[in-house]
Amino acid sequence: MLEGKRIALIGAGVMAEVMALGLMRSKLVDPVDLIVSHYRPERLEEFATLVPVRTTLDNAEAYAGSDIAVLCVRPQAMGQVLDELRPIADPQTLLITIAAGLPTSFYESRLGVSVPFVRAMPTFFGRIKAGTTGLALNAATTTEHLALASRMFGTISENVIVMPEEEIDAFTTFGSTTTATVYVLLDALITAGSLVGMRHQASHSRALEQVIAAARNVAATDKLPSQLLDELCTPGGVTVEGVKVLEERAMRGTVIDGVLAATRRAGEFRSKTDAS
Ligand SMILES: NC(=O)c1ccc[n+]([C@@H]2O[C@H](COP(=O)([O-])OP(=O)(O)OC[C@H]3O[C@@H](n4cnc5c(N)ncnc54)[C@H](OP(=O)(O)O)[C@@H]3O)[C@@H](O)[C@H]2O)c1
Repeated sequence: MLEGKRIALIGAGVMAEVMALGLMRSKLVDPVDLIVSHYRPERLEEFATLVPVRTTLDNAEAYAGSDIAVLCVRPQAMGQVLDELRPIADPQTLLITIAAGLPTSFYESRLGVSVPFVRAMPTFFGRIKAGTTGLALNAATTTEHLALASRMFGTISENVIVMPEEEIDAFTTFGSTTTATVYVLLDALITAGSLVGMRHQASHSRALEQVIAAARNVAATDKLPSQLLDELCTPGGVTVEGVKVLEERAMRGTVIDGVLAATRRAGEFRSKTDAS
C-alpha cells in the first residue's frame, strides 16, 4: 500500500526522525521515496546521517509531487509553513499533520483550498512501536487515504484508531499526562526505595517491574484497579497503612487535577491560535 508512494516529512525534528526510522524499519518505503525538509542545513546533514533519506531546505519542494506530506513542525511554526504550501496546495496529495491542538479548520482556512487532510496524534512511544495513534479525517479523504495513514502510523504504533475530531484533543492531553504521571510516580518510587535501604539500581528495577506487572494485571482482568487495590491490601496489614497516607495527601485528587490543568492549558493554546 505504501510501496512506491512518495512521502514528505516537513520539519526535521524529533518526531520526523521517529517516523522516518519507522518507515525505513518497515521496509515499506524506499529511501529514495522519502524526502525531509528543514530550514537549517546542519539539521538536515545530521538527519541524513541518522536516516539516509533525501533532504531539502525548501518545504514547498518537499511537498510538491508527494503522495503524502506530513507536517511535523510545532504548532507555532504551522502558519508560516502553510503559507509556503498555499500556492501549490494539491488535492492529489494527502496532507497529514501531527501537531497537537490546531483544528482542521485552521489548516483549511490557511490553505484556502480543500485537500484530503488527516489530523494525527502519534504515540510518544514511536521508537519502540508501542501505544496508539489517533486519526481524525476531513470530508475530502477516501478509504484509500485512511489505509495509507493507518499503514504509515502502523510503522511506529501498536494500534491506529479513527476518532471524531472533537475527541482528539482529549486523547492527546490525557495520553501525555498519563505518561508524565507514571514517570513522576516511578521517579518518586525509586527515591523511596533508596530511602528504605535498597541500592539505587535494585530500587530502579524493582519499581519498574512492579509498575509493569501492575499494568499487565489490570490489562489481563475485568476487575477495576480499585478492586485489585482491595485485593492487595490485607485488612490491618502494612500496604493499607501506606495507602491511607496516599489518601490523606490526596494523591488521587492530585493526579486528576494534573490532567485537568493540562487540558485547560491546551484549551488556552487553542484559543490563542483561533484569535491569531
Ligand atoms: N514529541 C512528541 O512526543 C510528539 C508526539 C505527538 C505529536 N507531536 C507533535 O509533533 C510536532 C513536532 O514535535 P517534535 O517533538 O518533533 O518537535 P521538534 O523536535 O521541535 O520538531 C520540529 C522541527 O521543525 C523545525 N521547524 C521550525 N520551523 C520550521 C519551518 N518553518 N520549516 C521547517 N522546519 C521548521 C524545528 O526547527 P528548530 O528547532 O530549529 O526551530 C524542529 O526541528 C509538534 O507539532 C508536536 O505537537 C510530538
